[in-house]
Amino acid sequence: MDDPEIDYTRLSFPDPPADRPFVAINMVMSADGRTVVDGTERGLGSELDQRLMRELRVHFDAVMNGGATFRASGTSARLNNPKLERWRVERGMTPSPIAAVMTRSGDLPPERRFFSDRSFYAVIYLSSAAPVQVREELESRGRPVIVVPEEDAAAAALTHLRKGLVARRVLVEGGATLNGELIRRGLVDEFFLTLAPRITGGDTAHPAVQWPGPPTASAIRQLDLVHARPAESGELFLRYRVQRAGD
Ligand SMILES: NC(=O)c1ccc[n+]([C@@H]2O[C@H](COP(=O)([O-])OP(=O)(O)OC[C@H]3O[C@@H](n4cnc5c(N)ncnc54)[C@H](OP(=O)(O)O)[C@@H]3O)[C@@H](O)[C@H]2O)c1
Repeated sequence: MDDPEIDYTRLSFPDPPADRPFVAINMVMSADGRTVVDGTERGLGSELDQRLMRELRVHFDAVMNGGATFRASGTSARLNNPKLERWRVERGMTPSPIAAVMTRSGDLPPERRFFSDRSFYAVIYLSSAAPVQVREELESRGRPVIVVPEEDAAAAALTHLRKGLVARRVLVEGGATLNGELIRRGLVDEFFLTLAPRITGGDTAHPAVQWPGPPTASAIRQLDLVHARPAESGELFLRYRVQRAGD
């Protein structure tokens, strides 16, 4: 069930901080707090959620995933919509955002569109912990491989996106591990969450954000609600701003 009243091309965003891109996360989650069904996110969002995911992408210069999401669903920044591509071009942007993936293992299946589709620019951020043979093999596939220091990989990738690829805004589309790493390091400005009217059940926890160790009060990040838009589909589309230390 679509809802023409909700249109994410109309959103606006603040300017990026001086030293990195503006970073937003976008996730879809069931009412019982899970983000994965049968190994991917595909069973969770409606057609409306898919449309809004693409409309959100139009505002961003790059879309980023972690390696596990790449393996589960692929990483592509395509909009699949000439109207949205035109929207970007009219504003001086490329038709599709840059697709970026972060990996330590280098285990990125070569048959993915990321490697074959040249309609969008793509980049791999590979941890310095990866062996040189892994880097060479990835480089042989024709997408740039940027080695980032293991101890500060996420921040280094964002710096490269901003300074090397002139990306002012980066949309992180999961999964929970990459989201967690970025939030924990204070590198996320906004969090978009689709709450799907579904209970998945099951005994595996797949939250929207995670990092090692049990949750502690001292690590909690406070959010400010920017909007909460209920749709006829039963979904609730949430936009939060992540509070900075001292807010
Ligand atoms: N519901 C939703 O909206 C949604 C959205 C996205 C994904 N998902 C689902 O989430 C699941 C995957 O989530 P996940 O938490 O397991 O994994 P993830 O965040 O997608 O990926 C984690 C991986 O990212 C790479 N990575 C993260 N930090 C790194 C660093 N500092 N340096 C180098 N590489 C780094 C590593 O890749 P390597 O393993 O390659 O070394 C790491 O194992 C999938 O099932 C996917 O379908 C759901």
